[in-house]
Amino acid sequence: MIETILGPMEGVSDFPFRMWVNLISKPTSSYTPFLRLTESFPHNELPSEFWPEVLIPSFTDLVWWQTHLQVMTPDPSFLARLRKQLPEDADSVDMNCGCPSKMVTGKGSGSSLLKTVEGFKSFVEECVSHFDGPKMSLKMRTGFHDESLFEELVSCLPADSLKHLTVHGRTREQKYSGYADWNMIDRASRIFKGKVFGSGDIVSQSMMEDRLKTAPKLSGVFIARGAIQKPWIFSELQGSKVEVSYELALIYLEVFHWLTRLWNDANPEGFLPCLLDAASLKSNPTLDSWLLYREKLEALAKINAVYTDRNTRRSLARTKMIWSYMRTNWNSTSMAPEPLRANTFEDMIGELKKLKTES
Ligand SMILES: Cc1cc2nc3c(=O)[nH]c(=O)nc-3n(C[C@H](O)[C@H](O)[C@H](O)COP(=O)(O)O)c2cc1C
Repeated sequence: MIETILGPMEGVSDFPFRMWVNLISKPTSSYTPFLRLTESFPHNELPSEFWPEVLIPSFTDLVWWQTHLQVMTPDPSFLARLRKQLPEDADSVDMNCGCPSKMVTGKGSGSSLLKTVEGFKSFVEECVSHFDGPKMSLKMRTGFHDESLFEELVSCLPADSLKHLTVHGRTREQKYSGYADWNMIDRASRIFKGKVFGSGDIVSQSMMEDRLKTAPKLSGVFIARGAIQKPWIFSELQGSKVEVSYELALIYLEVFHWLTRLWNDANPEGFLPCLLDAASLKSNPTLDSWLLYREKLEALAKINAVYTDRNTRRSLARTKMIWSYMRTNWNSTSMAPEPLRANTFEDMIGELKKLKTES
């Protein structure tokens, strides 16, 4: 069975987003965005709001999905501290060796680790030496400038000490342009003697099948932007016929908005009622349950107006970002710019409801 995984996305895949996707469909597992490890951070404890699925005891019983922590660092010795901060039952930590951002590569982490084979090899070897057994996985691109070192980079990885390898089939130079190179992902799955996952450009079942023909030895695929465009994509990839009407998508969007608005990094436990109320929706995901959940969240936001109001602008911006991806699922009417120009969430939803779009 091919694993279909919600990939890490900095600025996107925070706790409310992961919960939202896992309410709509069922990724095999999900990833946090990268947590940046520095000389002094995290100092004592891991930030619980970053990975509440595991770090907040009152959440762990209620959360029904599995989430892995991704970290990023230029210095493998920081993992010695991280290891002590991890809960005993944390099954693995993913190391980011792919981020293309200048801010990241300028400091020697992310994709800049792929510049030389020797540097990459010693970085990974020191990283895994801080764990007993295969407790670390790794996500990489196909190279920094180009793909010329890729096979050597993969060959130097210690398969016995790594839980798995994920390859995003682009170089750092490409950033997100062009297409991911699934031939390279296939090469990795033939060289690396452990589980390999592929990442890049999958937004439908047929695209996944096509990519898996190129790379048949993969254990699974990571879905990132495809989960913003179609949060129901995991049901589709797992073989269900999914038809989401425009009306239902708007309810999903509203729920996303309220979840984001109710989430507060400084007080993650305040979010607990949203998790508790999700129980009935999760067990019975009918249209009525979605409508009821939306109402419950809206009511909770009214009760908690003190901090939800502070979140208003940020959650509106995030809801617009989600819509800018989701709207590509329908006909050209849904591409109208008005909803994205709205100044309030209420205006945005009003504009969206005005659009007469066929599902
Ligand atoms: C907004 C955004 C943020 C991302 N953040 C991360 C990250 O924190 N860690 C990581 O390993 N990859 C990150 N990625 C890369 C994705 O996980 C994925 O490998 C890449 O987008 C290709 O897959 P896709 O075509 O399914 O989006 C990010 C991608 C996007 C679009």
